[in-house]
Amino acid sequence: MIDTKLIKQEKIQEALSSICRLTNFKPRLALILGSGLGDFSKNISVVSSILASEIRNYPVSSVQGHAGKLIFGYLQKDSTHSMPLLIFQGRIHFYEFGSFDRVVFPVTIAHYLGVRKLIITNAAGGLNSCFSAGDLMLIKDIFNLTFLQSNSKSSKQDYSTYTPTEYFDHKMQQIVLQCAAQLKIPLQQGTYCWLKGPSYETPAEIQMLKRLGVDAVGMSTVPEIYTSYILGMKTIGISLISNLAAGISLNKLSHAEVTETANNVKERFSELMENLILSIN
Ligand code: HPA
Repeated sequence: MIDTKLIKQEKIQEALSSICRLTNFKPRLALILGSGLGDFSKNISVVSSILASEIRNYPVSSVQGHAGKLIFGYLQKDSTHSMPLLIFQGRIHFYEFGSFDRVVFPVTIAHYLGVRKLIITNAAGGLNSCFSAGDLMLIKDIFNLTFLQSNSKSSKQDYSTYTPTEYFDHKMQQIVLQCAAQLKIPLQQGTYCWLKGPSYETPAEIQMLKRLGVDAVGMSTVPEIYTSYILGMKTIGISLISNLAAGISLNKLSHAEVTETANNVKERFSELMENLILSIN
């Protein structure tokens, strides 16, 4: 296992102690649920539920649709049950704290709790002309236009040692493609671009990103992907195309539209996620 000094060890230790006082559950698979996707399944058998505010040093999101809850339990459906799960309802965005370390705190905690596989979801704006609002997209590659890879000076060295060409786990990618095919849920594939936000892009910026080959744009996910890679976790990412990007969409973009689309595709998203989670072992 790769050793990491990404975030000060005392901060992690204190957070882990808070969690261990509240549960002794040992998760193996984690899910990060993006904007409006927090409430994805009725079939979760909850063993423990912890509020972010109950955990020392844990950043609490102020963004609507990001509940800030850690759910420990299993997915149980038709007499099968999943691996032990840790579900992050809501995530931290870089624009909330201006700190990379805070954004990756949840993934780091998951690693130290024993999580080895990670599914990251997000809401994103669609650029690809074949995409519609409500589509799901498997992230095949990432584009980091913030050019940030770490926060603190001390972590620079850790990151510079890693030069991956591939951040994602092929086996998990194959599983999600098979699940989507079986369920007859169309699953797009493409490149996700991370921008800092918090405002949405201008139509001119979107035209530039389109020329660069970006399929979907958002304000999250890439920091978590870097960190999970360094920590040796097997990871995949799925975007919900919550809107067509600025200038492509005829509507004025809003967070309300993002959460509304998430609500409309909840059933499809849940079905895919449930099948995926039950297929991973
Ligand atoms: N741009 C950036 N982030 C987003 C968007 C968007 O259009 N939709 C959801 N998150």
